[in-house]
Amino acid sequence: MLTLTVNGQPHPVAVEPRRILLDVLRRDLGLTGTKEVCEMGNCGACTVLLDDEAVYSCLVLAVECEAQEIETVEGLARGQELTAVQEAFVACDALQCGFCTPGQILSMEGALRRRPDADEAALTEAVTGNLCRCGAYRNIVAAAGRVAATSSGGAG
Ligand code: FES
Ligand code: FES
Repeated sequence: MLTLTVNGQPHPVAVEPRRILLDVLRRDLGLTGTKEVCEMGNCGACTVLLDDEAVYSCLVLAVECEAQEIETVEGLARGQELTAVQEAFVACDALQCGFCTPGQILSMEGALRRRPDADEAALTEAVTGNLCRCGAYRNIVAAAGRVAATSSGGAG
């Protein structure tokens, strides 16, 4: 038994030590906004925030996360109120297939929380771990740059 803090809420869960965070989020907690694609640390679709840092949840064991704040895409908006990053994704047309979008948003959220005025190079580097075959990178970086320009950070 362990208690995971996800999107500000404690969740007691019984998990085997071998289970990855991605699996527990999706199957035990029903948080399917975190996507399961390669399960090998290649695609970034499973990105979540651990203490504000973007990580691949397929490469983290759930038992490693008990002392950390876990954030998934479901935890970002407050009702109909989007975060600044989410609003910028819409405004800049930074979303394409949607399967990758949650991870892309969380990578940008993480980058902007670490450095609210992150420049284009830093934002570009932050999204390199999210593979996108449709090439939405320019708009993703533009969206995050729009938030950085206001120095409002990613907490929205
Ligand atoms: S599912 Fe985790 S990086 Fe692809
Ligand atoms: S947003 Fe999914 S492949 Fe580009």
